[in-house]
Amino acid sequence: MNRRYFVGATAALAVCSRAMSSHQPSGLKMHQSFNEGWTFHKGTAKGAEAAGFDDSGWRTLDLPHDWAIEGPFDEKYNARSGGLPFHGTGWYRKTFDVPAEAAGKRVLITFDGAMYNAHVWVNGHFVGNRPYGYIEFQYDISKYLKFGAANVIAVRLQPEDLSTRWYPGAGIYRNVWLDYRNPIHVKQWGVTIETPEISDHIGKVAVRTELAGDTEDRTLSILHEVISPDGKTVAQLEVPGVSTGFQTMSVEKPKRWDLHSPNLYTLVTTVRKAGEEMDRVENRFGFRTLEFTKKEFRLNGRPVRIQGVCLHHDNGPLGAVVNRRADERKLQIMKKMGVNSIRTSHNPPSNEVLDLCDELGILVQDEAFDVWEIAKVPNGYNMFFAEWGERDLKDMVRRDRNHPSVFMWSIGNEILEQRDAKIGPEMAKKLNDWVKEVDTTRPTTCGFNWWPGPYETGMAAQIDIAGMNYKPLAYGAPVNEYLPDNPVVGSETSSCTSSRGVYHLPIEKYKTHESKQVSSYDIIGPPWAYPPDVEFHQLKLNPEVYGEYVWTGFDYLGEPTPYGGRDNSTNGYWNDDWPCRSSYFGAVDLCGFPKDRFYLYQSQWTREPMVHVLPHWNWEGSGHESIPVMAYTNCEEVELFVNGVSKGRKVKGKDLTRLPVKFNHYEKDYFDSPYRLSWEVPYEPGAIRVVGYIGGKAVAEKEIETAGAPAKIKLIPDRRKLMADGSDLSYVTVRIEDRKGRLCPLADNTVKFRVSGAGTIAAVGNGNAATTAPFQADHRDAFSGMCMLIVKAGKNNGKIRVKAESDGLQPDEVKLVLR
Ligand code: GAL
Repeated sequence: MNRRYFVGATAALAVCSRAMSSHQPSGLKMHQSFNEGWTFHKGTAKGAEAAGFDDSGWRTLDLPHDWAIEGPFDEKYNARSGGLPFHGTGWYRKTFDVPAEAAGKRVLITFDGAMYNAHVWVNGHFVGNRPYGYIEFQYDISKYLKFGAANVIAVRLQPEDLSTRWYPGAGIYRNVWLDYRNPIHVKQWGVTIETPEISDHIGKVAVRTELAGDTEDRTLSILHEVISPDGKTVAQLEVPGVSTGFQTMSVEKPKRWDLHSPNLYTLVTTVRKAGEEMDRVENRFGFRTLEFTKKEFRLNGRPVRIQGVCLHHDNGPLGAVVNRRADERKLQIMKKMGVNSIRTSHNPPSNEVLDLCDELGILVQDEAFDVWEIAKVPNGYNMFFAEWGERDLKDMVRRDRNHPSVFMWSIGNEILEQRDAKIGPEMAKKLNDWVKEVDTTRPTTCGFNWWPGPYETGMAAQIDIAGMNYKPLAYGAPVNEYLPDNPVVGSETSSCTSSRGVYHLPIEKYKTHESKQVSSYDIIGPPWAYPPDVEFHQLKLNPEVYGEYVWTGFDYLGEPTPYGGRDNSTNGYWNDDWPCRSSYFGAVDLCGFPKDRFYLYQSQWTREPMVHVLPHWNWEGSGHESIPVMAYTNCEEVELFVNGVSKGRKVKGKDLTRLPVKFNHYEKDYFDSPYRLSWEVPYEPGAIRVVGYIGGKAVAEKEIETAGAPAKIKLIPDRRKLMADGSDLSYVTVRIEDRKGRLCPLADNTVKFRVSGAGTIAAVGNGNAATTAPFQADHRDAFSGMCMLIVKAGKNNGKIRVKAESDGLQPDEVKLVLR
């Protein structure tokens, strides 16, 4: 977390900061949410920047807001970017009172991110423009304001068609803040915290503070206080005057920030003038050591292998809007799978994601760009790179450098400059240097998918850690020949595709399927992709590779590979297989429901004994007499029972499963996987049960029964108690069950929701990547027996009543409480 202010809890801050004293002596709030009470218009609006413009006909709303997720899906939009209306012009305006007592203050407005190409006016004066939709930016608007009067801010956004390879969202989709600060104040991202020395006895904290205002004033002083994870002041230093260098303090017996004990300290910075408090901010940080050798990555002296996932920024049915609970849930689900690191593909994440990674103990590869100067799509960020690239990259590093979770800076993903022997190395060096000008405590990386181009030209050697996208067969000797000293990481791996609960027989490697779904036996992927098993295997053979970032942890909106088209042959539009409009790459679907692959990763990445079995067991009438059954486990052996009869025990690592494969640079058409166990069994209705053994003892089991006809709805909220903050969420899993409570794996019943009381429906979804059903609705079809209702808390304490009904099914009802 880069900033924490001593302010009263606002809606968005309440969940992530401690309760703090709120007002300056004048009674003005130093830092406040600026999310409420905007007006919005989709489309051009002549003169809307003017203060007197009449926006009374515009819609009113609170931020954060993503206009595109409201839909509707339409074939006229690009399925590659979600099939949603994200491009075009959108206007936001807000009228706000600035108290007379604020005269003399610096009034700052901060956008955590606005999609895309923001132009901002205050009272008709042009304030600034910021193209990159993922970057935070701040303006000092003091000189445009009228004090003791109403003021108007207007923001124009212009996302363009064919500007992105995934769903970007549209609108002011991250938080906005308003600050009243004294003329002398800590600059945006003005506190840098480093921990140059850490031992069990002592932790050194080096702090640099950059101030705005009259820094020559001799009566200024800065007080630094370090607060421990349990709230005690453990170090203090008051420095007279303003120094541009680092000041150092010591903390005794520092508690480390680590994956299983993410201890966070807080640095409180108070600026005083002649003894009077002028400004106060707080920043969190952690004590942890990072070592990057050719042989391994070490965290706090311990080798750690990266069990990572790439994540896009969208929150599925909620769209791109930032929501702390949505991101928290996403990261919690990933942690359950065994994830210890995320790559923020391919752009700076929200502050909330980084705060959560700090709190949950997840390492972050913080990525800046998907493109530099050479275009991937016709209207991409490359248009702005020459003017803004350096600023955007440095701002990302400035914003994020105090987060203990951030451990690598990625300067780009599959940058096309990698194909140019001259430009590639030059630009990589330039970007690497830009990062190092701001932060020298972490290494740089870049995801290369071209082989051996960037290694041959020396581009890969310009950065600290080479990111290898989809090159498991080049790990070891091939890459070491080019990079004998630099470490490498599998920055993007696998790209296996599947649809939750969908199984196509016989098992075969196909490109696409008429159902527009992808079989969940976890072998299907585009030609550059590998089943997870191949990646596991190559990582095992090459222990010096730091680990992998799987493409992807969650499904995301847009890029519906293998369906849709290819840029070159379809003019950038991916609508050949409409309505396929979101990804199949996730180990988890768009609603956060695990697919089978979730358990395949869990079997490699976690130790708590687990066993998983697939497929479902409802095959009557399918024409398939014999069914391949697979088990994913971290146990030594697994035994399969069909209706109580053993079909034999298999030993993990010894009994191999032959997978049909076909991928680039691989001659065989099969891979014998030691990472899954399998049986071929005649189908008979009843139950399949797998039992996992360690040391001959049964330690885990799972059973799937043949379900009868759909009979009832079952609602399972992930949380029954919510905060009355206007943004907290309960994700309610909706299951279609038979009369005995068994999941009906083929059910697609339409479920109708009624939500009343202290909350509302935020969105619905079901994880089906090939449907145009709206996310903002009061009903949803089940997909593979399940769908999701996301309920959003209002701002008042009370109860929320959630009812679900469907023709011919017994309804269900749950109550949620807000406080
Ligand atoms: C990679 C790319 C990702 C995604 C992925 C799909 O080449 O970096 O953004 O497109 O392919 O497999």
